[in-house]
Amino acid sequence: MPKFECWMTEKDFIPSDYQDLRENGSVTWKAPSNIALVKYWGKKGNQIPANPSLSFTLDTSATTTTLSFSKKEDSKDFSFEVKLDGEAKPDFAPKIQTFFERVETYLPFLKSYHFDIDTSNSFPHSSGIASSASGMAALSLCLLDLEWQFSDMDVDHFDKKASFLARLGSGSACRSIKGRMVQWGSHPSMKESTDFFGVPYPYPVDAVFNTFQDTILLVHKGQKQVSSTVGHGLMHGHPFATQRFEQAHQHLDDLAPVLKAGDLDAFIAIVEREALTLHAMMMSSSPYFLLMKPGTLQIIEKIWAYRTEKRVPVCFTLDAGANVHMLYPEKCKVEVLQFIQDELVAHCENGQYICDQVGTGAVKIS
Ligand code: PMV
Repeated sequence: MPKFECWMTEKDFIPSDYQDLRENGSVTWKAPSNIALVKYWGKKGNQIPANPSLSFTLDTSATTTTLSFSKKEDSKDFSFEVKLDGEAKPDFAPKIQTFFERVETYLPFLKSYHFDIDTSNSFPHSSGIASSASGMAALSLCLLDLEWQFSDMDVDHFDKKASFLARLGSGSACRSIKGRMVQWGSHPSMKESTDFFGVPYPYPVDAVFNTFQDTILLVHKGQKQVSSTVGHGLMHGHPFATQRFEQAHQHLDDLAPVLKAGDLDAFIAIVEREALTLHAMMMSSSPYFLLMKPGTLQIIEKIWAYRTEKRVPVCFTLDAGANVHMLYPEKCKVEVLQFIQDELVAHCENGQYICDQVGTGAVKIS
């Protein structure tokens, strides 16, 4: 199959001259987290994924960010302050500084303003749920909304550019703009796909997936031992990298008919294999590391036993951490939540878990 070349390039996101910049104001966006079915692990160059990935956009796990902006005298440097839940967070500054440096070409007004960035997450602080995807998506949407106030942009371009900017903040954040499923990364079989931004999954999907549930079991809420930047880096020269990247392409091809037919057995097999492969890559890199905890494995084994015994189509997936995402159809909600209460909360830190589901994407808060 010929390699598909995306018709849009990075240059398409550089705006033409602005008219009048706004003096001051504020804008608020709420962006959800997402959970990958086919995982992104490994990148090249400027946040370009080594393989395509596909995710469910979540609903309740989200970041809300208010960006207040005021024009400043000089345009020498970036100027911003960040707060989380109303408290100053100077330790967030380096990440935002790096993000601003990466996106300045595409948002040339950045140095003309002072920004107050006020952010809050719907999920508990240090729950082990990465806030970088929802956080970078919400911030990108706010910044782009500001650009929208003094430039022409249609909604389609806005969505693509928001995803493009979010990617430069944190790769998987580009999948947190739209719902319900987003693919990111160029794949020869999908002509819409591109490495530059996430696109809503363009193929038919059975209705069962529109309301799929994701219950996140908080097994370990501590700080990650390995940042995802370091983790991605370890795929360079990894002995299984080539096979892994091929496998991700294959899984996307395999998923298309499965999603269309609502074939839950086949869905489960691909999703669990993806989760375990992600961790297998971490466990076989140099240096190697292990992010699953004993509780993670106990939960996985209990899910397998429950699924076999009760024939309930529930499966697990994992992020780069110890928490377990349980994915299942909405109609199984009552029994699965009962199972969690009876058998799985014992493995969660302070018995905590978060009930989420597939969502429709980011929203502007007026
Ligand atoms: O967006 P990053 O750089 O934090 O990478 C996230 C990678 C995984 O969450 C492990 C997988 C994925 O596709 O979301």
